[in-house]
Amino acid sequence: MKMVKISIIGTGYVGLVTGSCFASYGNEVICADVDSDRIKNLSKGVLPFYEPGLSELCLKHSNDGTLTFTSDIKYAIEQSDIVFITVGTPTNNYGQMDLSYVYEAVDNIGEYLNQQKIIVVKSTIPAGTTRKLITYLEKKYGLILGVNYKMFSNPEFLRQGTAVYDCLNPERIVIGSNDLSQENELVDVYQSFSDKIINTSYESSEMIKNTANAFLAMKISFINDIASICEQVGADVVHVAEGIGSDQRIGKHFLKAGVGYGGSCFPKDTEDLCTLAGKNNHDFKLLKAVIETNDRQPLLLINKMLQTFGELKGKQITILGLSFKPDTSDIRNAPSIKLIEQLLLLDADINVFDPVALNSIKGIFDERIKYYSNHYDAVANSDACIIITEWNEIVESDINTLVENMKHPIIFDGRNCLNYEYMKTVDIQYHCMGRNSIYNYKLETESIETVKL
Ligand code: UDX
Repeated sequence: MKMVKISIIGTGYVGLVTGSCFASYGNEVICADVDSDRIKNLSKGVLPFYEPGLSELCLKHSNDGTLTFTSDIKYAIEQSDIVFITVGTPTNNYGQMDLSYVYEAVDNIGEYLNQQKIIVVKSTIPAGTTRKLITYLEKKYGLILGVNYKMFSNPEFLRQGTAVYDCLNPERIVIGSNDLSQENELVDVYQSFSDKIINTSYESSEMIKNTANAFLAMKISFINDIASICEQVGADVVHVAEGIGSDQRIGKHFLKAGVGYGGSCFPKDTEDLCTLAGKNNHDFKLLKAVIETNDRQPLLLINKMLQTFGELKGKQITILGLSFKPDTSDIRNAPSIKLIEQLLLLDADINVFDPVALNSIKGIFDERIKYYSNHYDAVANSDACIIITEWNEIVESDINTLVENMKHPIIFDGRNCLNYEYMKTVDIQYHCMGRNSIYNYKLETESIETVKL
């Protein structure tokens, strides 16, 4: 197996996972970042976020010397044959994708290129950007594609929470290049996955990434709209999803109705694709509707609560799960944030529980809400609890113990993650998304108030 010298610019989520997995494919990897504190911590084995299996992998390859960390970008570039750009492309204040970190990384490469190298863009960028980077390198540094360097687009499809598994077991590896007839040197990095490689153009590669995320987001919003209809007609969205998902043309994945998608990718990528479409004179109405449905989902839960309690002022409401999905500490665009904001507006008293995301949420809501590291303690004396993230410990809760100290045994399950059949046997009130509520416990309501959707 050929060993390749790789540098990774940007030690965010994608960079760290990819870097440590490349080391475990048998390559020599230098992870570089301008954030020297982050690099110091990484060198000591301290990761900036939680991702199952990642710290073990980093440690393993730091110890065997195949994975190193540096804040010296020049050194990282000079020492490697292949430079991966994995910096973030956040949304700026004007709702546009901010490509400045990508250009910064390209500037570093332009300045420090000491021999012919392969540059690979892994950061998510709009279609057409790779070609702009090539023009930029030529105009600013006189570097010519094919002479001084080769450039590939190689998007990542990692899911947070299972990123290490995804990286070690990829379903496909998309490689965009300017000349499909030329030998593709990236194949050396992905030797074990040669049957998974899809060779294509830069633009198609960039579009594949964006389209995949937009399509998955569409599936979620679609099933969420179906869930709302199911509630009205007395159908069960879980059964509907199972029924349609068995058709291989539809597929069973990403049909879980709930409080909506969050994270660093779906919300951003759907917005970015709408913008790209708009810039190209295409009004992407379908995708706009996907976003609109998603924005509405947390409010549906609030409405269910208002219908139950009449008003939420002074009610003790406990939120179980804050991260945008289980097995990650990431709260970016998490539905929990929108829900807490709305509940605060309605003057509810809020308790929250999450196994790993409490600190991040504290950064937003500080003393306005109460924080618990145990979910049984968090719900004590609560009028209701809401499940927003289906962490294992929440799903596997002993329901009788959970509700025994609550003021009212009322659960709003924003992820349909508790056992519905079992809930029918317990003395509780149980509300889910797209399924009939279970009213084994009755509560008198005074007045009905709803938020405008
Ligand atoms: C996503 C893509 O899956 C991944 O390929 C890409 O590289 C990055 O974006 P990620 O953001 O980590 O990954 O999470 P994902 O597992 O896709 O879930 C995104 C959101 O959708 C979560 O908030 C999740 O709760 C929600 N979701 C997912 C649903 O509401 N219903 C579903 O059926 C599936």
